Amino acid sequence: MSDLITVQNLTLQFRTDEGLITAVEDVSFRVRKGEVMGLVGESGSGKSVTAKALMHLNAKNAVYTPESKIILHTDEGDLDVLSLRKAADMKVVRGGAISMIFQEPMASFAPAISIGKQMVEQLMLHSDMTKKQARSHSIEMLDRVGISDPHKRVDQFAFELSGGMRQRAMIAMALSTNPKLLIADEPTTALDVTIQAQVIDLMHDLVKEFDMGIIFITHDLGVVAQTCDYVSVMYLGRLIEKGPVREVIRDPRHPYTQGLIDALPKLDELDKPLTPIPGDIPSPLERPKGCVFNTRCSKIVGDVCMNDLPRDVQVDPVHRVACHIYNEEGQA
Ligand SMILES: Nc1ncnc2c1ncn2[C@@H]1O[C@H](COP(=O)(O)OP(=O)(O)OP(=O)(O)O)[C@@H](O)[C@H]1O
Ligand SMILES: [Mg+2]
Repeated sequence: MSDLITVQNLTLQFRTDEGLITAVEDVSFRVRKGEVMGLVGESGSGKSVTAKALMHLNAKNAVYTPESKIILHTDEGDLDVLSLRKAADMKVVRGGAISMIFQEPMASFAPAISIGKQMVEQLMLHSDMTKKQARSHSIEMLDRVGISDPHKRVDQFAFELSGGMRQRAMIAMALSTNPKLLIADEPTTALDVTIQAQVIDLMHDLVKEFDMGIIFITHDLGVVAQTCDYVSVMYLGRLIEKGPVREVIRDPRHPYTQGLIDALPKLDELDKPLTPIPGDIPSPLERPKGCVFNTRCSKIVGDVCMNDLPRDVQVDPVHRVACHIYNEEGQA
């Protein structure tokens, strides 16, 4: 499978009244064509800002270090996303090669414009379709994502749709421009379980059909297990473990990932209380020295955890973890 996007040493800070805060630090990963990559981590770990970085879409107070590289591999060659300045170049990335389903359910649609009108506008911006073609393509996309009566729905407003329908309409809009990469930021959190399952099935079909890559953002490892091929686990702006989903879920190596898995409800042990990871993720203003997880870790191996950043080591040919438990050869 060929690479779609490569992220190298991404470090992203925000200028705030309290000073410079680090939201993402030295994060590297790639997404390949036909692959669904899960990005997981608790609230505030930096998932959404990482996703927005891929489209160079963060707020104006964002600062990227010069080492940060985001390379989008297109048929026309490689595009260095963070160096894009011109609106025309940005257009290639935003809503063109990359589409994003935003976390805020209503944010993707303007409330006072019908769904169809918005889809048509976006299509006309990113393709040379006529208005008529764009409208019929929009109806076709609504139909593809399982919206019944698409001819009628296309003229409705976002608030007239149920949560699940709205989510599907967002997916239809995000896919209508035929992106290479779809970023879905918590697309199923607001949905009930059956609709969630439908949306997940739909995404699987789409990857196969369009040979696209998907980044699926969630804080739910259970959803990742069902949805993704590969997973990257974030904590306080750092990528602490990554590997194929089955491998990471079956044999999590980082104490944080182990904690996330222990916190999942298990159907055969419903009487047992859930065991959440104790404590809260620290504020980015109070990033711990050493390993970022050291304030909550139950497997501290020594002062090294408090003082030194763990190196990212390979514990298996395709499984990497950043934790002092493992030596450079990846042995515990
Ligand atoms: N424009 C901004 N200015 C300052 N800080 C910001 C800005 N945008 C995001 N942050 C901070 O960056 C950190 C990471 O935020 P992000 O939204 O990526 O978290 P997340 O992992 O997506 O969490 P959630 O699961 O709640 O969506 C947070 O501490 C957030 O407050
Ligand atoms: Mg988020």
